[in-house]
Amino acid sequence: MGTNRKRVLSGVQASGNLHLGNYIGALRQFIDLQRDYDCYIFIADLHAITVPQDPKALRKQIRSVVNMHLACGLDPDKVTLFRQSDVSAHSELGWLLNTIATMGELKRMTQFKDKAGGKAEASVGVGLFDYPVLMAADILLYEADLVPTGEDQKQHIELARDLAQRFNHRFGRTFRMPKPMIPKIGARIMGLDDPSVKMSKSAASAGNRIELIDSEDVIRKKVSRAVTDSGSEIKAGPKKPAVTNLLTIMCALTDRTVAELEKEFAGKGYKEFKEALADTVVAALKPIQQTLAELEKNPKYVDEVLARGAEKARPVAERTLAAAKQAMGL
Ligand code: TYM
Repeated sequence: MGTNRKRVLSGVQASGNLHLGNYIGALRQFIDLQRDYDCYIFIADLHAITVPQDPKALRKQIRSVVNMHLACGLDPDKVTLFRQSDVSAHSELGWLLNTIATMGELKRMTQFKDKAGGKAEASVGVGLFDYPVLMAADILLYEADLVPTGEDQKQHIELARDLAQRFNHRFGRTFRMPKPMIPKIGARIMGLDDPSVKMSKSAASAGNRIELIDSEDVIRKKVSRAVTDSGSEIKAGPKKPAVTNLLTIMCALTDRTVAELEKEFAGKGYKEFKEALADTVVAALKPIQQTLAELEKNPKYVDEVLARGAEKARPVAERTLAAAKQAMGL
C-alpha cells in the first residue's frame, strides 16, 4: 500500500502557540500533501528543549501542538503523526551524524546565530548549537523525498543534504537525498508590528503574530494595529514591505493573486483593506478553533493518535538507523 508514493516529512516545534506563519508556511502544506504523499509529521519536542523550558508548560505545549495539527485538518488515518521523543532512533542517529558534522558548518546556521544572538559562547547550550544535526536525523531516518517547511528552515535542510552526501560517500549509500519544499506564497510571513522580522512564536511582542487560537476580537485588534507603509495605496513591492506582508497573508488564505487583490483594493484605503483582511483571517480560523475545542474535550483520542503514530514511525526509523550503524562498522 502506498509504496509508490513519495515520502514527505516535516516537524513543528512544541515551543509556543502556533501562529499564522506556521499555518501558511507549513501546516497548510501538510494538509494539501496528505492525500497524495506518504506523510510523516511529528511534534519536535526534543528540539523544544534546546532552550530553557518548564516541564509542565512543555507537556501542555506538546499536546496543544498535536491538537492544532488535527484541528487544521491533518487526518491521522492518512498521515503518520507522532511525537519525536517517542522514537528514540532520532537521538541515536543524531549522535551518529554528530561524528561527521563540523563545528564550522553549524556555526554558519543563521537560526543559531539569531537564537544565540550575541550571548557569550560559554553560556550557549550545546543542544541549541547541535539542533540542525538532530533535524538532519529527523529527515534522513524516514528516507524523505520532500521536506515542506517555511523559508527559515531551508538552510537546515541543505545541511541534512550535505550530511547525507558525506555519509554516503564515506560509508556507502545509506540515505536518500531529501529536497526542501518551500511554498511559493507565504514562505516567510513577517511580523505585523515590524515587517523586517519574521512572525515567530518567540517574538517578545504579541503584536508580532496572530496566534491560531486568538479570538475574533484579538485578531481584529492586531490587524488594525499592524504597521503599514508610507503612501496610501494597497500595493505590493520592495518599498512597501508591511503592505506586501498583509497582501501575502490575504493571498495565502484566499488563494487569490496579489494582482487580483491590488485591483480589488485600488483607490481604497488601509482601513478598508485591513477590515477585509481581518474578516478573512477570522473566517479561516473559526472552523479550526471549533474543531480544536472538540479535540480538547477528548484527550484519549489524541493519546491514541500519538500511540498509533509512534508505532508506525518506529520500525521505519529503526530500519534506517540499523543500516547507518552497520555502514559505520558498529
Ligand atoms: P518551527 O516550529 O519554528 O516552525 C514550524 C514550521 O513553520 C514554518 N514557519 C514559518 N513559515 C512562514 N513564515 C513564518 N514566519 C514562519 N515561522 C515558522 C517553519 O519554516 C516550519 O516549517 N526546526 C523546525 C522543526 C523541525 C523540522 C524537522 C522541520 C525539527 N525537525 C525536520 C522539518 C524537518 C522548526 O523549528 O520549525
